[in-house]
Amino acid sequence: MSKDVEKHLSLNVSLPSGSKKRSRKSRSSKHKESVHTQKPAEIEAPQHETIPAQVVAPDYDVEEAQEVVFKPNDGPQTTFLSSSEREVLYGGAAGGGKSYAMLADPLHGLNNPHFSGLLVRHTTEELRELIQKSQELYPRAVPGIKWSERKSQWISPKGGRLWMSYLDKDTDVTRYQGQAFNWIGFDELTQWPTPYAWDYMRSRLRSTYSKELGLYMRATTNPGGAGHAWVKKMFIDPAAAGKPFWATDIESGKTIKFPKGHSKEGQPLFKRRFIPASLFDNPYLAEEGDYEAMLLSLPEHQRKQLLEGNWDISEGAAFPEFDRATHVIEQFDVPNNWVRFRACDYGYGSYTGVLWFTIAPDEQLIVYREMYVSKVTASDLADMILEVEAKDGGMRYGVLDSSLWHNRGDTGPSLAEQMNMKGCRWRPSDRSRGSRIAGKNEIHRRLKVDDFLEKPMLVFMNNCVNTIAQIPSIPLDKKNPEDVDTKAEDHLYDALRYGIMTRPRSNIWDYNPAKQRTGFQASDTTFGY
Ligand SMILES: Nc1ncnc2c1ncn2[C@@H]1O[C@H](COP(=O)(O)OP(=O)(O)OP(=O)(O)O)[C@@H](O)[C@H]1O
Ligand SMILES: [Mg+2]
Repeated sequence: MSKDVEKHLSLNVSLPSGSKKRSRKSRSSKHKESVHTQKPAEIEAPQHETIPAQVVAPDYDVEEAQEVVFKPNDGPQTTFLSSSEREVLYGGAAGGGKSYAMLADPLHGLNNPHFSGLLVRHTTEELRELIQKSQELYPRAVPGIKWSERKSQWISPKGGRLWMSYLDKDTDVTRYQGQAFNWIGFDELTQWPTPYAWDYMRSRLRSTYSKELGLYMRATTNPGGAGHAWVKKMFIDPAAAGKPFWATDIESGKTIKFPKGHSKEGQPLFKRRFIPASLFDNPYLAEEGDYEAMLLSLPEHQRKQLLEGNWDISEGAAFPEFDRATHVIEQFDVPNNWVRFRACDYGYGSYTGVLWFTIAPDEQLIVYREMYVSKVTASDLADMILEVEAKDGGMRYGVLDSSLWHNRGDTGPSLAEQMNMKGCRWRPSDRSRGSRIAGKNEIHRRLKVDDFLEKPMLVFMNNCVNTIAQIPSIPLDKKNPEDVDTKAEDHLYDALRYGIMTRPRSNIWDYNPAKQRTGFQASDTTFGY
């Protein structure tokens, strides 16, 4: 490609610059940011460098020179296009400009002869639509670029390639066997019911030019759809929106690390990031208003997903009122004089969930810490709990699943007694008939925004990521809609229920300042602590 063509490309596309290095010329110029290809350098996957700047800075005014073909909308579209993490999901409201941004993202590399990209949709029909959009955008953004219908591929004059294809059934991945890409995009990721295709394609992400080009997997999607649950676990649950995080295993929630014996043993593998989208980020659709009106007319759970981009709404959810904006607060240091207690649902083979609660002066209950572990013996759990709460300055009491007092046929102390003997003191939860439903109702009552205080009486600090992920996704029991489905992942929910039921909302008539400084009954008469 001649220098002229290269310059032309840089003038046609206005992509975000992020923190990329710019040439002196471009730094001094005031015109609109022009192309770019480089992703910011501050967040790096451990094993690869970010791409060096390769773009020719314009030496005359872009806008005067010609129309800018593509300029990202301010906000998430810009953030998406300048993200440097290995795997990024741009997801949320319909019409936010996600697919358009997905098409624009590979433009950063097409000018490089070694660039090899793959953009997939779930089926061939959906792919057509995306190809049509690319046919409007690419020839203007990359002059001289050619579309090969036979290969379903874009080839830039410099040799960079982008294959636009489909990936429907799991067996379709064989189409990509033996191929190597440095950029892979999935449009509408939740259309894939399992993470199989996404995980498989990660193995196709390699390039001998990765230092120069970077290695990127990009996805866009609306909430809802067959793959809602796994996509939420992979991208939304592990960290606050917009914040890069080390990739976790979606089942265990643990950071994925290089295995034993590897030269990088124990180091995290790569970073992920979720960038939320809203219809209002996209002036091209938001201003018209008709589209918003159409979304407003949808049933509530669909409206929350498609208009508000809300990931916590799934049909049949037991706690549809749970809302991150209302029920999740920034972590802060709990003042020493606030009462604290903890609750636990124990499971060795499955999971153990422990929650720590504190009571604010206005009686709001705040879950300030969680522990979610698997395969930990009762005795080790006691040590772990005592260690994390060493600086808490005293726990008023702890409540534990009452079945842990049962002897399991063997001699010796029960699991609860083993923990009590270590100094990790517990009293048994209420397991009487009706206690499950009473507990659920109490959680609803506390999640409701109090008319007088204008806030809910139960909130979670944002470090309690597993709890925040699980509570809104617990389904109702289809046979008994009064209760949650006990087959769902419910250990943290049970811990929450045990904790909350030790301290039902205080009633002014119970209040006895001499006996109950904070207006609740903390001790258990049977067990005395
Ligand atoms: N930066 C931009 N410049 C010009 N037009 C844009 C830009 N971003 C979005 N648009 C326009 O907005 C329309 C909607 O965007 P897009 O189809 O990308 O949204 P989406 O988030 O993928 O929607 P859906 O959730 O329905 O898939 C596009 O057809 C495109 O014309
Ligand atoms: Mg789209």
